[in-house]
Amino acid sequence: MLLGLLSICILGGVVYCAFRKTWRAAGTYLLYEIKYNILGMLAIIHDLWNAKYNKIDLPSTPGKVAIVTGGSRGIGAIVVKKLLQCDMEVIIACRTIIAGEKTILQIRKSGVTNGQAKVYELDNSSLESVREFAERIKKEYDKVHILINNAGVMFVPYHETKDGFEEQWAVNYLSHFLLTSLLLPLLETGGRPDDCSRIINVTSCAYMLGDANFNDINCKGNLTQAVYANSKLAQLIFTATLQKLLMNRSLNIRIYSVHPGIVKTDLFNNSYVSKVKLLMIGFKTPEQGAIPIVYTAVNKDIEKKGVLYISNCRENAVLPVVLDTKIQQQLFNLSLKQAQLNDFFQYL
Ligand SMILES: NC(=O)c1ccc[n+]([C@@H]2O[C@H](COP(=O)([O-])OP(=O)(O)OC[C@H]3O[C@@H](n4cnc5c(N)ncnc54)[C@H](OP(=O)(O)O)[C@@H]3O)[C@@H](O)[C@H]2O)c1
Repeated sequence: MLLGLLSICILGGVVYCAFRKTWRAAGTYLLYEIKYNILGMLAIIHDLWNAKYNKIDLPSTPGKVAIVTGGSRGIGAIVVKKLLQCDMEVIIACRTIIAGEKTILQIRKSGVTNGQAKVYELDNSSLESVREFAERIKKEYDKVHILINNAGVMFVPYHETKDGFEEQWAVNYLSHFLLTSLLLPLLETGGRPDDCSRIINVTSCAYMLGDANFNDINCKGNLTQAVYANSKLAQLIFTATLQKLLMNRSLNIRIYSVHPGIVKTDLFNNSYVSKVKLLMIGFKTPEQGAIPIVYTAVNKDIEKKGVLYISNCRENAVLPVVLDTKIQQQLFNLSLKQAQLNDFFQYL
């Protein structure tokens, strides 16, 4: 009997050791699933509770130029529509020109006749494409008033971009970091002391699950759920860092981060949530998700206050990690290196 027990213990030990990595990975995966589910539920309650604030007026601002990355579908397409309703000139920056043109056609068919819409190619997974896009914009425009860094992917299987970065990190964060730096001269020209130009980073409440150890970002072992949260945390930290730098230089440019809400879009295609439609009850529509982004683009009050993180058209507090100056500096230096920039303001 004793021998039997001993054999079971040894066998158990051998099995545990052999599959230790798998157990650990499964445990981490499960932990993230639990955390995302709890956070998602709380965020939906927050959206429902604050629905009465999630509204905007659409002021007429002809002559303004806005860029929306990922503007050909999802929340971005509705943002484009609403900015056109403000009579702006809106540039859809997207991977497929035809997709952007189809979006414009749909918007026009829906009865929106004002504003001007154009489509330019931008693949956020390639730093070269970001540079080419910025060059084309600089050739054709002398000012930009609103840059909305919206393109994003979530929970994609591990894949390295041709620059060697994990895809979510590159698309959601790094490409937008570089694009912002490249377009600073046009944003500076677009801004006035009484009407500053705006950079808007579309982040997510998922930033709360992020880990500020950004040196590990490209680690193959990192779970896709972890990298998504990290990319969204990086967007928010970058916003806080650049907000201070813009202030120090007295530039007429403001930067904000905005969480659109939990919105029923294709972003969830890699999550089990999209397979069970019942789980999407309480989600915002893309129309409702676009509102806080457009609010951040056009509301006058937030310009004076310098808000960092907006959700449901209201300022929301951020976790202390976002304001940690050491972490801000570490991320900024890492991003400069990854985007191959010597100085963030080098194009000004
Ligand atoms: N939905 C939510 O609940 C939610 C919550 C919080 C934050 N957000 C954020 O909101 C933003 C928009 O998400 P969504 O819900 O509208 O998602 P979506 O419907 O999946 O749209 C994503 C957009 O990003 C574009 N995109 C993806 N990869 C790209 C690349 N490599 N280069 C250029 N564009 C690329 C897509 O263009 P293609 O057509 O070319 O793929 C599409 O236009 C994202 O940043 C997301 O993180 C969403």
